[in-house]
Amino acid sequence: MQKTKQDELKQEAAKKAALMVEPNSVLGVGTGSTVAFFIDELAKINREKALNLKAIVTTSNRSRAQLEKQGFKVNELSEVDQIDLTVDGADRVDLNLNGIKGGGGALTLEKNVAVNSKKNIWIVDETKFVDRLKGFALPVEVLPISCEQNFRTFSQEGLLPKYRLDDNGKRYITHYGNFIIDLHVDPIPFPNVLAHYLDSVVGVVEHGLFLNICNEVIIAHSDGKIEIRK
Ligand code: 5RP
Repeated sequence: MQKTKQDELKQEAAKKAALMVEPNSVLGVGTGSTVAFFIDELAKINREKALNLKAIVTTSNRSRAQLEKQGFKVNELSEVDQIDLTVDGADRVDLNLNGIKGGGGALTLEKNVAVNSKKNIWIVDETKFVDRLKGFALPVEVLPISCEQNFRTFSQEGLLPKYRLDDNGKRYITHYGNFIIDLHVDPIPFPNVLAHYLDSVVGVVEHGLFLNICNEVIIAHSDGKIEIRK
């Protein structure tokens, strides 16, 4: 498949992040098309100068399969004490480095890996870097047992919920057997207030507002500039 301009930018951001991985460290690896480039870049660097990573933890079966294909051993999150650095993609990042994640449906493990990492770097192309969180529906993972109640409540709250569907038009099922309700509130006026609310809703497993988690974002611009924001 031909690489788009956006893919090229994703790859540039991924390359930069791969150079930031310290030898002998514990690495977290996220999910998505940008991360897929990162895994390939990581493998290249590892072939050139063995990184001897102590452990790698990842956030989806997709990334796990790619890492293993590249010869890396992958551990479960519960098998490591702490992760030194996690590199992940994002769907949107704002000026305060708060973000929306979960476009690929892996938000629950992604957040668990992220909060157990000393440092989190996100890699994005310039289209995802925004002044405020907008332009992408917010994923919320919910338990099937109370999903209809959650859906109704979100509707009543004006959060414009829609069930995420898979390629066959059926409800998308997460790694943990749950559903995803995407909230089409756009822009998100008060991310902290919404995150606090969602944290309090029984039946919500996790949501895609990642606030005060990202330490650095690597943004690849179409003019060739690679920007790092901390
Ligand atoms: C998956 C994620 C991804 O990091 C996010 O969707 C970005 O994906 P991509 O790199 O394919 O644009 O949060 O749950």
